[in-house]
Amino acid sequence: MTDAKAGLEGIVVARSELCSIDGQKGILGFRGYDIHELARHATYEEVAFLLLRGELPSAAELAAFAAELGEARAVSGEAAQVVDLIARDAAPMEMLRTAVSATSFDDPDKDSNSEEANQRKAIRLLAKIPTLVCRYHRRRAGLEPVDPDPELSYAESFLTMLSGRPPDEDAARTFDVAMILHADHEMNASTFTARVIASTLADMHSAVVGAIGALKGPLHGGANEQVMRTLESIDDPDRVEDDIRRRLAGHERIMGFGHRVYKTMDPRAEILKELARRLAGRADGSEPDWFAMSERIERVVTAEKGLYPNVDFYSASTYRYLGIPTELFTTLFVASRVVGWAAHVIEQHRDNRLIRPSSLYVGPDSREYPARDGAS
Ligand code: CMC
Repeated sequence: MTDAKAGLEGIVVARSELCSIDGQKGILGFRGYDIHELARHATYEEVAFLLLRGELPSAAELAAFAAELGEARAVSGEAAQVVDLIARDAAPMEMLRTAVSATSFDDPDKDSNSEEANQRKAIRLLAKIPTLVCRYHRRRAGLEPVDPDPELSYAESFLTMLSGRPPDEDAARTFDVAMILHADHEMNASTFTARVIASTLADMHSAVVGAIGALKGPLHGGANEQVMRTLESIDDPDRVEDDIRRRLAGHERIMGFGHRVYKTMDPRAEILKELARRLAGRADGSEPDWFAMSERIERVVTAEKGLYPNVDFYSASTYRYLGIPTELFTTLFVASRVVGWAAHVIEQHRDNRLIRPSSLYVGPDSREYPARDGAS
């Protein structure tokens, strides 16, 4: 071995049928379907089915899948108690890291890595994470949790459990598209984590809990919350240029920009930008113009650093316009991406070999253990 590749950049670590990226051209596809097409025509449920089962569902398959998801939404037992117990003190991602783990305690398939068991566990995880997030949010706000309605779509159910009111059609569709865009993304850090854990033949819940830990960091999923914190701290579109230039001069990273694979605009950011633009047009003016600020930030960062927005940049203003509290942003990333993690775990378990790379030793040469005074 001659050297270690920092950040494993460009290293291919798995074969996968799930997600393809052309980072030069800014093209993303799930199982061959372009992300723009999926965002235009599909629902999150259809994309989840596509990732987990391999093909888009027929009408009957979709109805059965949606019914299964609806039935699995309720959270009871230890997982609900865990949320109630920690809601006040645990930050949102700490809560999810802990509560998702607790959903395995009574999972009837927890000891099996068979394809069938993994498919069932994937549905339960996908269904229960929104319920955990909303229960936590409402407990934290001193409100009663809203029980999930199995008849509602994924997006309607999520937004209803969060605010206690059914969303309008436009808000539900916008949220649904945001969830589609985050559903999978090739060998990102959290997915790699999930595959490494699965490769030891550990169970799906363990892989997902590890992936949540990896997603939490600000260089990965934690960036969406940090983008909103940046917007909140600038607060005024006319302060954008000075503020961002000052940050760049201080070698600060501007959250929501840059990507290991995309060398152009992330196609998910293109779609989210249009969603945010549309929502900004409907805003009542009681808050700063988050979209105008975002566009101005984009102009400065692209001109000064040659960096483009990634998925986290315009998802921040999109979520804000939908009325979602900033502290929950990264938990929404988990809620969507869990289907990608689960599909990768299924692939890994289907054709497993332990993932165990090597490191290049750069420590001291071999040396004698020192004699110590009084030591025998
Ligand atoms: N703002 C300012 N400078 C940046 C940024 C940024 N957002 N991103 C990269 N750079 C600079 C970095 O400082 C470094 O400069 P220098 O060579 O002078 O030290 C150079 O670009 C290369 O940085 P790197 O970390 O080696 O590049 P990478 O390809 O490994 O980075 C990244 C990818 C996402 C970690 C990085 O762009 C970043 O930190 N972005 C901000 C955090 C963020 O938005 N994360 C979300 C990523 S996409 C969705 C997701 O995974 O959640």
